[in-house]
Amino acid sequence: MADFTHDFWNWYIAVITVIAILACGWLLFANLTRKSSGPTETMGHKWDGDLEEYNNPLPAWWVWLFVITLVFGAVYLVMYPGLGSHRGTLGWDQASQYRAEIQKADARYEPIYKKYLAMDIPQVAADPAARAMGERLFLNNCAQCHGSDARGGKGFPNLTDNDWLWGGAPAQIKQSIIGGRQGVMPPMAAAVGTPQDVSNMAQYVLSLSGAAHEQARAVQAKDKFMVCAACHGVDGKGNQALGAPNLTDKIWLYGGSAKTIMETINLGRQNQMPGFGDFLGEAKAHVVAAYVWSLSNTPTTQP
Ligand code: HEC
Ligand code: HEC
Repeated sequence: MADFTHDFWNWYIAVITVIAILACGWLLFANLTRKSSGPTETMGHKWDGDLEEYNNPLPAWWVWLFVITLVFGAVYLVMYPGLGSHRGTLGWDQASQYRAEIQKADARYEPIYKKYLAMDIPQVAADPAARAMGERLFLNNCAQCHGSDARGGKGFPNLTDNDWLWGGAPAQIKQSIIGGRQGVMPPMAAAVGTPQDVSNMAQYVLSLSGAAHEQARAVQAKDKFMVCAACHGVDGKGNQALGAPNLTDKIWLYGGSAKTIMETINLGRQNQMPGFGDFLGEAKAHVVAAYVWSLSNTPTTQP
């Protein structure tokens, strides 16, 4: 049985469960057969001043309730999984119930998704019902990383602005979702030089977006930026084919302090957007892509 690493645990659970049920039955039986001798008398226990315990027989309704509970438990454990690795005579399990529900939902929604899949993403985004579906998909699958407002966080890009690592055209957004993306910047400390050079480079990066920086030190790093230009471009405007961010726009994936920039240069960065193509299927990815696109574009019905 796959759920148990060793057969021992299977028996451990089954035996303890059966013994517990039998013990409950015995407890009831033992109390029923013990005849009270003579008239009702107190057992000598007192609570709250005048609340006393008598040796009255158990009420019939209570005994029957107990018996029904025991029988229910036994029948349940025969029919459903619960006793060790016994699968239950009904063959029920959570996984197949889940699959059946998914299948039912798919059958119901498939025509709707098919309709949207045949439309362009901007057209889908113009449909309020489609946007609502996309938002639900987003909240269920994407919000844990990008935030429920899609504004992201450190290392997780904001999807509501017009700054894109991998491109903001409908097809590029859809590709990010279906195939996932891997942003890799290697550690660059060795290529830049001494720690002082790295620090100067951070000042140069700050200067690219017009942020506060030390001009004299930034100038010293300007030529060295050639080693960065391969990915970020000579002007620092980035390269969407590589997911290399635009360094001139004051929008930071990791943060715009000299310290964070030096950290990026020294250690590099590795970041991954998991691919959702297999999990969502193309039609749902299409609808969620339309939702994401609508966050930074005004949907229009014009094709
Ligand atoms: C496990 C966390 C995680 C989940 C879940 C996730 N993403 Fe991402 N996503 C990322 C990261 C990290 C990046 C940035 C990758 C990089 O640095 O190149 C990213 C990048 C993206 C991009 C590209 C952004 C750009 O600027 O080009 C899009 C679009 C996107 N995600 C949409 C989604 C959608 C839609 C979902 C849900 C279906 C989703 N993501 C789920 C982590 C996640
Ligand atoms: C091989 C390509 C490559 C090279 C070379 C490279 N980078 Fe990067 N850089 C990237 C990628 C890709 C990312 C985004 C990483 C991610 O998605 O997490 C990045 C991210 C950054 C960031 C973070 C930006 C933000 O928004 O927080 C900074 C700063 C940066 N690079 C500066 C530099 C500097 C300075 C150099 C040269 C010393 C350099 N990079 C060289 C590919 C490169």
